[in-house]
Amino acid sequence: MTGTIAAVREQVAQARDRGQVPVGLVPTMGYFHEGHLSLMRKAREECGFVVVSIYVNPIQFDPAEDLKTYPSDFDRDLKLASAEGADLVFHPSDKEMYPEGFDTHVEPGSVAEGLCGQARPGHFRGVATIVAKLFNIVGPDRAYFGQKDAQQAAVIRRMAADLDFSIDIRVCPTVREDDGLAMSSRNTFLVDEERAQAPLLYQALTAARDALARGETNASKLRRIMRRTIGQNYLVELEYARIVDPVTMEPVARVDREVLAAVAARIGRARLIDNLLISPEE
Ligand code: PAJ
Repeated sequence: MTGTIAAVREQVAQARDRGQVPVGLVPTMGYFHEGHLSLMRKAREECGFVVVSIYVNPIQFDPAEDLKTYPSDFDRDLKLASAEGADLVFHPSDKEMYPEGFDTHVEPGSVAEGLCGQARPGHFRGVATIVAKLFNIVGPDRAYFGQKDAQQAAVIRRMAADLDFSIDIRVCPTVREDDGLAMSSRNTFLVDEERAQAPLLYQALTAARDALARGETNASKLRRIMRRTIGQNYLVELEYARIVDPVTMEPVARVDREVLAAVAARIGRARLIDNLLISPEE
């Protein structure tokens, strides 16, 4: 474990000298669940040296948001990361990442505007900035992200292409609870009654998938189906239910190829998101 940029650079350089390549990076904010661990497992399978970063990045949280209450359990995380075979855990301080005078950000374009970009202004700018910094600190050959945060993955892919990071961006499948709820650190905020309703998000997505399989290719109708599925419940406040292009995140009117069905909702104190890639061939 290290908290300094200099030590990460040195240890990665030594690993490369020993031939421990490719170098893989798994960026996280900690409070691990199976979703995080699945990324580490994939990185372990594919890489000679695995770096896991744990850093709750303040600049991707809106001032009114949940930065202060974001859950953490660093000791547990460290044990879990080493059990998954991580070679190095990078856990920097705010001062290390944003020293006094810090004044440069990465500004994503239109891919960050819709969906969560609307409800969380500045969020993806904060994500792109920290991920660019982590890429430059670690210098990985591969970096691992979850499909759960599909827009985030699309923003990172776009950034890596546009800013010429020669890093292979790997996007791994969403890990779910048995009832379909996508695993998230924020699920811990749900009280029992809310937790019982939370699978509605995934049910809405599968309802859209099933309707598409039956031949419904009109995106407005698929959105209505998702809204109707979620709208049944008073504990769940729907933020959006959309059908978008999986690369650009632009709305799609008719589904004639693979698209992303994406939903976001507030349930109690938690803001939950989920998505599913669906295609007419299914
Ligand atoms: P965090 O929410 O900790 O997530 C770290 C990684 O785990 C992300 O790539 C996310 O998509 C993935 N992940 C979360 N839940 C998942 C699930 N149920 N199945 C599969 N993967 C899942 O995302 C962030 O942190 C931050 O924005 C970060 C990229 C670290 C930048 O600060």
